[in-house]
This record gives sequence, structure tokens and C-alpha cells, in this order.
Amino acid sequence: MGGAGAAEQRLSIDAGGRTEFGAGLVTAIPEFVAQAGDQRALVVTDAGLLAVGIVDRVTAALTRAGMEHLVHADIGANPSTDEVDRGAEVARSFGRAAVVAVGGGSPLDAAKAISLLAGNPGATAAGIGGEADPAAGWPLIAVPTTSGTGAETNGFGVIEDACARRKVYIGHSSVRPRVAVLDPELTIGLPAHVTAATGIDALVHGVESLASRGANVVSAAYAARAVTVLGHWLPAVHRDGRDLEARAQVMLGAHLAGRALTISGLGLVHGIGHALTAHTGTPHGVALAAVLDRVLEFNAPAAAAAFEETARALRVAPSDVDWTGAALAAVREIGGTLGVARPLRALGATADLLPRIAESAVADPVTGNNPRAVTVADVLAILRSVF
Ligand SMILES: [Fe+2]
Repeated sequence: MGGAGAAEQRLSIDAGGRTEFGAGLVTAIPEFVAQAGDQRALVVTDAGLLAVGIVDRVTAALTRAGMEHLVHADIGANPSTDEVDRGAEVARSFGRAAVVAVGGGSPLDAAKAISLLAGNPGATAAGIGGEADPAAGWPLIAVPTTSGTGAETNGFGVIEDACARRKVYIGHSSVRPRVAVLDPELTIGLPAHVTAATGIDALVHGVESLASRGANVVSAAYAARAVTVLGHWLPAVHRDGRDLEARAQVMLGAHLAGRALTISGLGLVHGIGHALTAHTGTPHGVALAAVLDRVLEFNAPAAAAAFEETARALRVAPSDVDWTGAALAAVREIGGTLGVARPLRALGATADLLPRIAESAVADPVTGNNPRAVTVADVLAILRSVF
């Protein structure tokens, strides 16, 4: 485990955040809206989920309950400050409501920022981060439709600043979801490549959380169990996406990994991943997979205990008690099964872009929790090795 020894730690444990899990639970969303104190709902989602009918299941439940609602589906794959500002305008003109965020990480992250801005009339996405004490956002109910980001576990969204071409964090404790509604039936129709990319994201959350400088006994408990569940069930769900048991297990594993990362923070895989996405538009999980192997190798000298926990969580037998090698091989094998890793040039990166990606990665606050100190030159070497 990363972080300080127990005797040096001051722990404050707040299990924090209500989770409701169950197949078919989407029908109970109106109850959760009412429990949050509202009788109206603004559904924030993306056009793809609207097109495949997932959003219809949510709106059908709201209609049956006689609950007034509006669907706002103008959220793209990497939501920007402009999209968040537009969403906040829609929310303000619709009027006070609970925000029901339906989607993968992008709609969930955008919805948090929209909820916060809706509670702060006149505020903008670019300006809200600088406010010392913003007013509370509107209540948020998170309904994940992928098993990966863990965005339902915290009140912060990763949003792209369209001008600066970098990721910014927008959030507040008031927009941490009142309820995370985990319904594995919503993930049954996910295409295999999305299952793989979001699954590798969840696995990386567990692995990076175990090695994070911010890890503590609680995050490590969540992360170790997440790695065990995901290591076992990701290959199964990738083989057969209609296997509801596998979908349920992976959804729970991703949720545990999200709870872990919310406590511990992550590390350099995410630092580089965010930068790659900002500069090339590569989906988050695909960006992580491109550098995962090399970053773990780079971190190995500073993360022996965490890698031993990773190997034990993955139930692999160490060769010559080489836990680090065993962990690397096991993570590599799962990544290989999911088939997500690509060279950077296949993701649209050019040689000229690599120094800028490296600088963004080192500047990203998420990199601050990496177990090994990292320079721009270190990142550049990693990027060039997978170019
Ligand atoms: Fe992630």
C-alpha cells in the first residue's frame, strides 16, 4: 500500500454516499428523486443513450410516477466547459429540479458541473473553480450505464477547458450523488469495445489506488476487492456481454474501484491518459491502456508493496517471490484479453505533440499521487516507447 505507515496517519472515515444496487432498479428512480426533496427531474445524458432507448427506461419510470421531467442530451464524449455552460442554461430555464445523470463518465461528470452551476446563478464553468465557497448545487442522482469511471462515487467532474486544451476539475461536496443507482441491466447492450475500454479504466483505478501516495487502509480495502472482482470477471464479460452475472460483478467491482480512487487519488497512468485525451480525443480507457504497461514498469521500484497486493488480489502465484513481476504479467494478460492497447500514433498523436502531452501529464494534479516522482523527461521516454 502507498502512503504513510498507520502510526503517522490521521484517518477520518466517512463511508459516504448511498448506493442502491439491483437488476431492474431503474424503475425506482422517481422514489430517489422524491427522497432528495424534489418532484421534478432534469435528465442529463448523451445522444447515443437516447438513441438506443436506455434513457426511455428512465423517462418511462418518471412518467409513470407523474413526475415532470426534461431530457438534456447535449453532452459529448469529452464534455467541455461550453457544454456545461449550455446545460446550466437549460437547467435554470427549466427551473428547480433534481438532476438525474444517466450515462458513462461524460454525462455524469458534466451533470455534476451543471448541478453546481444551476445552484449558482450567473456562475460559469470557467469561473466556478475559483469561487472559494460556492452555493450548493441541485441534488444529483447518478445512474451509470457503463462499468468503469466510478464517477457515481464522488462530486467532481473532469471537464475539458476548450480554450486551454487541458482537463479541469469542477465539483463540490453538494453535487456528490445523493444516490448511485447501479442497475446492471443498463449495461447489457454495451458493445464489446466499450466494455473493454471502460473495464480497463476500472481495473486501473484499483491498481493505481493501491499504489497511490494517498492510499490508506480504507481505500486499500476497496481497491483490493475491486481488483479481485474485476480481474476475475472482466474476461468473462468481454467474452459474453449478455451474461447478467458478469455484468453485475463488473459493475460492483467498478463501483468499489471508484470508492477507492475517491479516497486515495490515482497516479501517472491517469495523468498521461487525461493529457492524451485532451490532445487527441482518444477515449479515456483506450488512452490509459496505451501507457499502462510502461507506467507500471516505471513505478515498480517505488511500489513493491502495492504490486504485491495487486498480485495477491489477482490470485496469481509469484515466480521466485517476484510479486512485482507477477502483478505486471497479470495486468498485462487481462489487458491483452481485452485488446484495448494501441500505439500512440494509431491514436492520432504525432511526434511533435509528445512534449506537450508530457508537460500536461506532469501538470495534472492526479499525477501528484503517483508513487514515484516523475519529470517531463520521464513521461517523454514512456510516450516514445509506445509511439
Ligand atoms: Fe479513470
